[in-house]
Amino acid sequence: MNVVESVADLRAQCDAARVAGRRVGFVPTMGYFHVGHRSLMERARAENGLVVVSLFVNPTQFGPGEDLSAYPRDLEADTRVAEAAGVDVLFVPSVDVMYPDGPPRTTVHVAGLTEGMCGAARPTHFDGVTTVVAKLFSMVGPCRAYFGRKDFQQVAVVRRMAIDLDLPVEVIGCPLVREPDGVARSSRNAYLTAPERAAAPGLHAALGAAADRIRAGERRAEAIRELVASVVEAPLELEYVEVRDATDLVSLDELAGSFVIAVAARLGRARLIDNIVMEVDGAAVEVDDGVIIDQDAAR
Ligand code: PAF
Repeated sequence: MNVVESVADLRAQCDAARVAGRRVGFVPTMGYFHVGHRSLMERARAENGLVVVSLFVNPTQFGPGEDLSAYPRDLEADTRVAEAAGVDVLFVPSVDVMYPDGPPRTTVHVAGLTEGMCGAARPTHFDGVTTVVAKLFSMVGPCRAYFGRKDFQQVAVVRRMAIDLDLPVEVIGCPLVREPDGVARSSRNAYLTAPERAAAPGLHAALGAAADRIRAGERRAEAIRELVASVVEAPLELEYVEVRDATDLVSLDELAGSFVIAVAARLGRARLIDNIVMEVDGAAVEVDDGVIIDQDAAR
C-alpha cells in the first residue's frame, strides 16, 4: 500500500491505473477506522482494480463548537487496517493540501435533501461534505465510491450531487454495521463513557419498536415519530426522529414504498445517529436493519 500526501502523487497513481485499464474504487473517510470502514474497503477491493481510501478530518464540515479538535485520530492503526483490507493507496492530505488558499470560495450546495434531519442541527455540515467530496472525486476520478448507510442523509445528498453535476461515479450505499447489542458502529462511539455505552442500545431499540408497530399494521408516520420519541429515555436525549422517503428524503405522512426512519440523539459528549430502511407494499413489510459484524470490539 502506498501512503501519499500530495494531490500530484495521488493523481499519478490513479492515472496509471486507468491507463492500465483498471477501475478505480474510492472510499472517502475521516479515519479512526472500525469494522464499518473495513467493510467498505473490502467491498471496494472486491469490485475494483485500484482501491483508494482518503483519510482527512475535514474542518469545513464541522460547525462552531463541534468536535473538530477532539475528533479521534490514530494514523498508525488506520494504516494497518487499510493495508489488511487490501487498499492500494491511502491518501492522507493535510489541511493545506486540501485547502491551499484557505476555505474554498466555491462550494457545492444540494438543496432540499440537506434540509432537516442532521441539516437542522448542523446547518453548514452538508455543504462542507459535498464540497470536500466533490474535490476528492476530482482528485481520484473513481468509477465507484462507497459510503456507509449509517449516514443515510449523506449518501442521498452525495448521490444527488453526482447526478446533478454529471459526475461519472456510481455512489454506492453500503450496509450499516452494528455491534452485537445493536449499536451502530461510529468513530464517535469512542467518546462514550461505560455507563453511556450501556445506554446506547436504547436508540436502536426504539427503531426496533417502530418496525414492530409497522409490521403490526401502523401506517401513520406521526404515530411512528411519537412512538420513537416516547421510548428513547435518558441519558439519551433525542434530537430528531424523522420518517422520510428513502430516495428524495421527502417527509412522509403515510407509510408506503421505501422509506427511512432516522434518529439522532445526544449521549454525553457524543451525538449518535441511526436508521432503519423499510419497504411497505400493502400488508407486506421488509426491514433493512443493517448487519452485525462482531469484530474489533475495542472501537
Ligand atoms: O462520512 C465521512 O466520514 C465524511 O463525511 C466524508 C464523506 C469522508 C467527507 O469528509
